[in-house]
Amino acid sequence: MKISHLSAECMPFAKTGGLGDVTAALPRAQAAAGDDVDIWLPFHQPAAEWYRRQGTWPELGCPPFRIDIMGQSYEVGILRGRLPASEVPVYFVAHDPFFQRGPIYAPDHTGHDDGLWRFALFVRAAVTAMKHLGRRPQILHCHDWHPALAPMLGAWSNYRDRWFDEVASVLTIHNLHHQGSYDPSLFPALGLPLETMPLVTENGRVNLLKGAIVAADMITTVSPTYAWEIKTREGGAGLDEVLRDRVDRLVGILNGIDPSEWNPARDPHLAARYSAKDSAGKIGCRRALCEAAGFSAEDPGMILGAIGRLTEQKGFDVLLDAVPQLLHEGTRIVMLGSGDQKLEQRMLGYARHNPGRFQAWLGYDEARAHAIEAGADSFIMPSRFEPCGLNQMYSLAYGTPPIVRRTGGLADTVIGYHGHNLDTANGFSFDDLTPGAIVGTVAWARSALASSIWPRLVYNAMHADFSWQRAAEHYQTVYRQARTHRGLDW
Ligand code: ADP
Ligand code: GLC
Repeated sequence: MKISHLSAECMPFAKTGGLGDVTAALPRAQAAAGDDVDIWLPFHQPAAEWYRRQGTWPELGCPPFRIDIMGQSYEVGILRGRLPASEVPVYFVAHDPFFQRGPIYAPDHTGHDDGLWRFALFVRAAVTAMKHLGRRPQILHCHDWHPALAPMLGAWSNYRDRWFDEVASVLTIHNLHHQGSYDPSLFPALGLPLETMPLVTENGRVNLLKGAIVAADMITTVSPTYAWEIKTREGGAGLDEVLRDRVDRLVGILNGIDPSEWNPARDPHLAARYSAKDSAGKIGCRRALCEAAGFSAEDPGMILGAIGRLTEQKGFDVLLDAVPQLLHEGTRIVMLGSGDQKLEQRMLGYARHNPGRFQAWLGYDEARAHAIEAGADSFIMPSRFEPCGLNQMYSLAYGTPPIVRRTGGLADTVIGYHGHNLDTANGFSFDDLTPGAIVGTVAWARSALASSIWPRLVYNAMHADFSWQRAAEHYQTVYRQARTHRGLDW
């Protein structure tokens, strides 16, 4: 199948979270399975920096052309690179003022959020370039709200643009809380027929994700449990009704993990390599983490790792409430993250007052993330909601049984040990997002760590199958359904 992925993020060119991991790993798996796949991204500043570090530059994809949006004309360039560890072509839409601005979701130079504008340009330029290049995909696979205009153009511009007649669209929701909500006066920038405005409006605002949910031929999200949760009022972030209307088109497909990035047997970031068969290297990784964190490596007590964006979603505020009691009971904690300043300050405060027991690393640090996954005894994710979550799958693969709140993809991947399920358990889980539940579950995990139960949990964790092949096969089925719904064969 000919598949084009459209996304704001893709490792290693631009990543703020799991979206960037998935939009690299899935195309890689699809190409390995024989699909004709490419990726379309904005040429963000981190992508330019990545190329500079490599000492190379992407080639010209096609001659520059102009895109008009609400009476303004923009010249865009198309650059062509390649996804590392694959032959997958990556096409970048280049427009410096829109995309060369430091952090990828940064506002413009006046501090104004022009996301609707620049992602509309991104989609329209990508489609124009596909036409110039004669590359018409059978599936336009759009990730989150940024490329949401593409399914809408496909569904509602049909009578004007026959190019879309042969193209089916799939929308993957990685996080329903990011919707691309803008002032309704910006609707004309989308270039859609005026009568579609109610389909793209929610609560008086243009809502790009809603438009794509209504327009896409199929909708997926990144775990079966999250697919269920987002249809409820509690989990629907205001779009549950729209999603319930499209329930026959909504499927949950669990993400996989990319073995070219996350495999303890080959990971270049680790102090020592190890595998399920030969796990001796994990002790070296624990020692290296202790050294980096200023902890005693001789102390057999639990080292708990936590990594992630410091946002409401991740529940780190509640974890931080639990920290004094956790430390008091002998658990040591390493946290890596960036985001909310209040949370950052609290982390630094704990680190200052608890040397040797609590370490806080602020910022985004890929190498440290790998070192924590491998070196910690256990890994904690107290998420309020979690569409899929990758870190718990990484910690499973690294033999670091995770402690998670039972929500979304965490519920689908971590089988909590409850005393009678040693055959299948691979971690620990709790339901209430309270410091008490965290403290109690960590205490339960600590007692397992000191017993013969632990090696069995590690064994189960390292043997869990989160291959992208499985997910890619499932996406194939969804692509076929999308084409059938559009009256196309495959
Ligand atoms: P989300 O996409 O909601 O942030 P995921 O668990 O799906 O959550 O993916 C998070 C990804 O981002 C993982 O690859 C994780 O290692 C990485 N990550 C998040 N914060 C950091 C950080 N501060 N440093 C390094 N990697 C990070
Ligand atoms: C989102 C979600 C996360 C998921 C990731 C990749 O950022 O928050 O749970 O794993 O996308 O799909």
